[in-house]
Amino acid sequence: MRSHYCGSVNESLIDQEVELSGWVHRRRDHGGVIFIDLRDREGLVQVVYDPDREDSFAIAEKVRSEYVLRLKGKVRLRPEGTENPELPTGKVEVLGHELEILNTAETPPFMLDIEDDEVSEELRLKYRYVDLRREPMLERLKMRSEIVRGLRNYLDDNGFMDIETPMLTKATPEGARDYLVPSRTHSGSFFALPQSPQIFKQLLMISGLDRYYQIVRCFRDEDLRADRQPEFTQLDIETSFLDEEQIMSMMEEMMRQVFKQTLDVDLPNPFPRMPYAEAMQKYGSDKPDLRIPLELVDIADLLSDVEFKVFAGPAQDPNGRVAAMRLPKGGELSRKEIDDYTKFVGIYGAKGLAYIKVNDKAAGRDGLQSPILKFLPDEAVEGIMSRTGAEDGDLIFFGADKAKIVNEALGALRVKLGEDLGLMQGEWEPLWVVEFPMFEWDEKANRYTSLHHPFTSPNEEHLELLESDPAACLSRAYDMVLNGTEVGGGSMRIYREAVQRKVFKALGISDEEAQDKFGFLLDALKYGCPPHGGIAFGLDRLVMLLSGAKSIRDVMAFPKTQSASCLLTQAPSPVSDAQLRELNIRLRRKQEESNS
Ligand code: AMO
Ligand code: AMP
Repeated sequence: MRSHYCGSVNESLIDQEVELSGWVHRRRDHGGVIFIDLRDREGLVQVVYDPDREDSFAIAEKVRSEYVLRLKGKVRLRPEGTENPELPTGKVEVLGHELEILNTAETPPFMLDIEDDEVSEELRLKYRYVDLRREPMLERLKMRSEIVRGLRNYLDDNGFMDIETPMLTKATPEGARDYLVPSRTHSGSFFALPQSPQIFKQLLMISGLDRYYQIVRCFRDEDLRADRQPEFTQLDIETSFLDEEQIMSMMEEMMRQVFKQTLDVDLPNPFPRMPYAEAMQKYGSDKPDLRIPLELVDIADLLSDVEFKVFAGPAQDPNGRVAAMRLPKGGELSRKEIDDYTKFVGIYGAKGLAYIKVNDKAAGRDGLQSPILKFLPDEAVEGIMSRTGAEDGDLIFFGADKAKIVNEALGALRVKLGEDLGLMQGEWEPLWVVEFPMFEWDEKANRYTSLHHPFTSPNEEHLELLESDPAACLSRAYDMVLNGTEVGGGSMRIYREAVQRKVFKALGISDEEAQDKFGFLLDALKYGCPPHGGIAFGLDRLVMLLSGAKSIRDVMAFPKTQSASCLLTQAPSPVSDAQLRELNIRLRRKQEESNS
């Protein structure tokens, strides 16, 4: 039904007949002449209908926004002065003759030339098929497709095989809640949708497939945010007989190639690396945004003997942290702004946000302004000033609490200040975070949990620590961080059964439980498992960063809301009693209702 896409009609086609199909972006009546901007995936072109051609003109008069048309016409230069330099097709127009209305359309729920935030996201999601007609959405989906092609090309060129793994499977522990699917044929039993193909890709290595990848949907029932969705896409990768250096360097190369192809950006070679401990210490985060030139410094040793309990308490607590963060020129912040930042850190559990304004360093205490100054002896104040390197006009923020709270609060404050005050330096700051701990202590569960997942290999030199001091045991994991977002995470895996058993034990997983949940993996490890390792990238996050989108929802065709529902299809939704009966499921609420 077409000879060209609307967006590709240009000067090279002058005097040629074209046949176009598309949607009416706009129709304007100009004193007897009708202009139709016809739109398709590739762009817009202006079509002119002249009253001289009575048949087609009469049809053009009936046309409304978003009608679907098919037409023929002759390409000509636009009259001088009427060119539109904003449009790739802006130098030409099509003088229309044949015109057919293939379909009518109701007035769309919102205009198509709006920006993302000019209409509520609920409305955009409800009418997603209309939303996807908007240029920014279309451009992002095109970029996504291009990025996927680039990633596939790289992996295909490097000997990786694309292999599918099951969607109906057994729970893999990636730390989130599972989405369950009831089995009809095994009444009372459930499949879990994969949180990742982790175990299957390891089994593929045991099978000798050597290099695997898959662009694969993963499902996690967890609290959603701008960069989290209940179903999302991973670029999942696994390799055998390579070590972490080789894997990281290959993955960097893939990223450099994709950035070059997509944005013509040269990422550094190699990417910088930072141990987890340093990232937490300097940035309060294991995914630091290195574009922000603010750092945390520890000051507990200066404050352990002061009378001010807010500082002295955490300074003496082995799990506490007292940290300062200098904000250059922060003296300009108003009282209200500081109050707002205090509220902001409250979200992360901070009980306050002490600060010192440095007006005139040379004047000693008199040159400082702060609600906590009166609680601090001279040596402490001097120590803080010299350790933070504060200058006149600066402001120093403080956090004192359990280390976890201080890290989260000041880490988030650092990012917020960077955004609010426009402190970002440089455009792209990739980073490998390495030397992660194997475990973190879970207060609620009163046991260790894996920082990555239970198949991550401990550092060879730390094997002893699995039993003696799990908290000190480091892993062979690596995360790729880009501008403060974790775009990928991976590790070398455990490939010896005895080590895997020890790790389960350190996690408080009993032998029976290990056998029940992962018996098939433990068995497989006995049948010739090669050393192997891999990584998974969050494809949606990667596309979000490359396209400059604010949320991963804006790079997914049909995303879910913050409460994990689909506004377009109204999923999830109740099912019929017959379906439930077939699955041998009885709903509790219904039963309670009928009982009452
Ligand atoms: P991990 O759990 O770190 O590792 O996931 C890998 C990457 O997937 C992305 N991601 C998400 N993206 C959107 N929404 C979510 N809810 C979501 N959760 C994770 C992140 C993350 O870096 N099996 C391991 C990988 C491995 O060890 O090879 C895994 O799944 O960008
Ligand atoms: P208070 O003595 O509680 O009024 O606190 C004095 C100052 O210390 C105020 O500026 C508080 O915001 C700040 N503050 C209180 N608790 C903390 C904390 N845990 N970390 C950092 N600053 C705090």
